[in-house]
Amino acid sequence: MNYIGDMRIPMRRVAHSRIREVNWDQLELGTYNSDHMLVCDYSEGRWFGPEIIPFGPFALLPTTLAFHYGQTIFEGMKAFRTEDGRVQIFRADKHYHRYLKSAERLCMPAVSPEVFIEGMRRLVQLDKEWVPGGAGTALYLRPFQIATDSRLKLKIADSYRFAIVCSPAGNYFAHPVRVKVEREYARAVRGGTGYAKCGGNYGGSLYPTQKAREEGYDQVLWTDGVSHEYIEESGMMNVFFVIDGVLVTPPLNDTTLDGVTRDSLLVLASAAGIPVEERSVSVEELREGLEHGRVKEAFGAGTAAVISPIWQIGIDGRDYTIPVSRDGSSVGVELKEMLDAIRYGRADDPYGWNFYI
Ligand SMILES: Cc1ncc(COP(=O)(O)O)c(C=O)c1O
Repeated sequence: MNYIGDMRIPMRRVAHSRIREVNWDQLELGTYNSDHMLVCDYSEGRWFGPEIIPFGPFALLPTTLAFHYGQTIFEGMKAFRTEDGRVQIFRADKHYHRYLKSAERLCMPAVSPEVFIEGMRRLVQLDKEWVPGGAGTALYLRPFQIATDSRLKLKIADSYRFAIVCSPAGNYFAHPVRVKVEREYARAVRGGTGYAKCGGNYGGSLYPTQKAREEGYDQVLWTDGVSHEYIEESGMMNVFFVIDGVLVTPPLNDTTLDGVTRDSLLVLASAAGIPVEERSVSVEELREGLEHGRVKEAFGAGTAAVISPIWQIGIDGRDYTIPVSRDGSSVGVELKEMLDAIRYGRADDPYGWNFYI
């Protein structure tokens, strides 16, 4: 038995680790899962103790509510191996707070920080051999929660399962992407669930994204769901522009996900003296800025790739290319280097973002 603070976390270890099956040169996210997972169940008004058990299937009836009405939420975060061999989870508390917001919006009870953060720490500690080493690699951590009542009637569930699974992720080379400003379909509307990390937001975005892909784009740039005049964010990333030398990102509201990477980049940019503005960016401003060369950079920011440079933006059937700067300098690359230096332990962590295992 193992203990976390006062909390006992029973652990059932695998008889044989699967780690030898891993091809470390080809770590596409989700190809492999680490040996163990954390599970914690809620019923009759309370959470039962978490357990760490071998990664494996859940036994759920076909009538389980999560399969039907989308009462599901998740997080996406990473544990990094530093160059001197330590393992640290990036901004666990910020992810926990976003999980709390998602849980509230989806009418779900939330697990305590002990279960989410300390439970995750214990899981990563047990599976620490699964944290790859090397530039750009990490152990991706996926906490999630689903409604587990077996009943077809739509209602707030009485029982839930919270779980954390881990998947080693390779050096995700973010090749520059081509994005389409989406002015027909919406990802989120005011009053909806856009700011929550709930399954339905992603299911609904598949069709417009597929249509954009058929037109040769990698991703969509969502606009507001009412006027389609203002840029919001990208598929699984927040978006930044460098306009007239200022780093600009759309403000947070209830239609946009409060990205942990977005927040981190804003902090780092301000500290580095880069002028920053959180403000609305209209499609018109973007179009004009692209036409007149005032938009010098555009990039998406998220846990998966940190930064995905955008090289071309499609607006109403016309494509605008952002030229690469002559001297190769880029605010996006500079910020990525600053963030990676903290996450891989090459730089001090003045903000207390790293949570050591
Ligand atoms: C819709 C959406 N926006 C933005 C992000 C970026 O958030 P983060 O930086 O926390 O990964 C994500 C990824 O989680 C996302 O799914």
